[in-house]
Amino acid sequence: MAFELNVNGRMRSADVEGDTPLLWVLRDTLGVLGPKYGCGVAQCGACTVHLDGTPVRSCVLPVESVGAAKIVTVEGVGASPVGKKVQEAWGELDVAQCGYCQAGQIMSATALLASNPAPSDADIDDAMSGNICRCATYLRIRAAIKKASGQKAEA
Ligand code: FES
Ligand code: FES
Repeated sequence: MAFELNVNGRMRSADVEGDTPLLWVLRDTLGVLGPKYGCGVAQCGACTVHLDGTPVRSCVLPVESVGAAKIVTVEGVGASPVGKKVQEAWGELDVAQCGYCQAGQIMSATALLASNPAPSDADIDDAMSGNICRCATYLRIRAAIKKASGQKAEA
């Protein structure tokens, strides 16, 4: 079946089964490789993308449920002022280690700051708790979110 998907502001067509997870459609059909496969069962956050601004686990989201929602991946998140600030802070603080989880981290961080422009450490830990990092870059992630929000790190 053909699906018309709005991906990073462009309409893309994908001829796939309706129950195909969005992550597979993005990566294998459309060549959008930022979202990563980590666990495939909504437990790690590596596949996180935005649907109309809300972070979702694309590994468990059937493409038929996306409809006309705007899909944004790490390739497109820098087009929003908040996403751009997050990406800049990530670069300035050299957050990534192996990098595998980082697209998902950036998508969750951007969604957090879009809804809460001045999050506390507890807010950050709560919002980011579903994004696992095997390299344990959590302290740099928290510092980068603080930086992107214009706040100083808590002592
Ligand atoms: S790959 Fe989707 S949450 Fe792990
Ligand atoms: S940077 Fe390696 S898994 Fe997060």
